Amino acid sequence: SKAPIRVAVTGAAGNIGYALLFRIASGQMFGPDQPVALNLIEIEPGMAALKGVAMELDDCAFPLLTEIVQTSDLAVGFKDVDWALLVGSVPRKQGMERADLLGINGKVFVGQGKAINDNAKPSVRVVVVGNPCNTNCLIAMKSAPDIPNNQFFAMTRLDENRAKTQLAQKAGVSVKEVSELCVWGNHSPTMFPDFYNAKIGRLKATDVITDAAWLKDTFVPVVGQRGKAIIEARGASSAASAANAVVDTVRDLCTPTRGDFHSVCVISNGEYGTPAGLITSMPIKVDAIGKWRVVEGIKLTDYAKEKIAASNQELLDEREMAFGQLGLSI
Ligand code: NAI
Repeated sequence: SKAPIRVAVTGAAGNIGYALLFRIASGQMFGPDQPVALNLIEIEPGMAALKGVAMELDDCAFPLLTEIVQTSDLAVGFKDVDWALLVGSVPRKQGMERADLLGINGKVFVGQGKAINDNAKPSVRVVVVGNPCNTNCLIAMKSAPDIPNNQFFAMTRLDENRAKTQLAQKAGVSVKEVSELCVWGNHSPTMFPDFYNAKIGRLKATDVITDAAWLKDTFVPVVGQRGKAIIEARGASSAASAANAVVDTVRDLCTPTRGDFHSVCVISNGEYGTPAGLITSMPIKVDAIGKWRVVEGIKLTDYAKEKIAASNQELLDEREMAFGQLGLSI
């Protein structure tokens, strides 16, 4: 039988954790024949609730789940893991400036990056969900010098999924008809969901949805503000859809791409004029031996280039604010 894949999840007792762990343990992330071991990481105040989550995992009697580790010790939590899903982070509170948030979370991701560097398998792949996820990911990457940069990812798949549904609903087609929809830039309201290159069936999305004003002035902001709209409607932030996007992200990073590409924040080597060294969202394909690369040959309109440049400028500003406080160098 196969050796288990060991997955660390931080913030495991939080909202996303509660929607995510059961899907990993049931086989939806790595497939129905692949055993998994879960290393659940929380801060001290979360440990009691985490125990309850672990009890519920036990009570599911998942045949694929071989072990549950519960810990607030990062060296234990990241020991020999194949995947580190960094979900936990400190939320922005009233009166907290953006720079404060970057500094507070930055410290957390320095610590987690170091612990991953020193304890995880050398082949570990790290997916950052906790916000500000791009900059947190960059900080973790910088703090883990022995782990190759191309093993670090931050999540924009929820934004891609949201964008696809908006286009499908506008066009009156099934969401599976929408493809090649890349979200570029920062996982923040400045992201750009590139409707110009998206397809609906075999047609260009812009030939199906010919209302250019709707695409620019409704679609783009609706996708960018969707997280806020969920909070207003539900009274709590997106959790099940975020967890679903984590499952999609990891599964698709493990699977050779057939057909559609997907959006993931990865280390830039300057592709499409993005600033090299940032963790920024781009379209990714995975080859037959499991290596990912940025999709080549996409033509960006001037409008798209402007939007993407603005989102990447925001990432440069975040990096400057965070690295200054943390004493990291570029
Ligand atoms: P939550 O507040 O319900 O749970 C967070 C959990 O993390 C808490 O249980 C807390 O105790 C724990 N935690 C805090 N600091 C930690 C640390 N240093 N180490 C380990 N655990 C720690 O939050 P929720 O709803 O689960 O969201 C988690 C994060 O995901 C937030 O930062 C949120 O903004 C982000 N998010 C990102 C999305 C994306 O598309 N990239 C989408 C939705 C949410």
